[in-house]
Amino acid sequence: MPSSNPLGELSCEHRYVLDRLRALEASAASLDLGSVREILSEIQAYSAPHFRKEEEGLFPVLGRYFEKAATSMGGPVRPPGGPVQVMMAEHKSIRMIVELLEKALNRGEAAEVRGKAQHLIDLLRSHIYREDHVLFKAASANLTSEEVEEVAARFQRLKKP
Ligand SMILES: [Fe+2]
Ligand SMILES: [Fe+2]
Repeated sequence: MPSSNPLGELSCEHRYVLDRLRALEASAASLDLGSVREILSEIQAYSAPHFRKEEEGLFPVLGRYFEKAATSMGGPVRPPGGPVQVMMAEHKSIRMIVELLEKALNRGEAAEVRGKAQHLIDLLRSHIYREDHVLFKAASANLTSEEVEEVAARFQRLKKP
């Protein structure tokens, strides 16, 4: 049976990532590179399916809503591609900084690890804040129950091996 609260599911996953970010911040500040590596792999393991749920589950449905809303007001969706494209671009930046952090870890460059880790922490915190407080709020206020069901069904399909 599909989750009837796909937005709640995503927000709940955000809480876990925010918790891991606090741990990452402490490990990076004390230059404990082993612990940074461990926490980073936990964040990656958790974020990969989360990003897929957003990119292939929620965003296509929400993007359709933004397009429809802009058309009904007589103009193109702003910014180009709408808020969904902004979130997609942020996912890309997050993936890129994760790669740079991994490279810094592999080189054992402690100061660079600390800088890249902080960059990742800042990016993810602001991304999660915008999703929870802007995007998901817009989704829960405007998506019809059929659209929410569609998002839930998409999540179910993604969970299948
Ligand atoms: Fe996201
Ligand atoms: Fe998210």
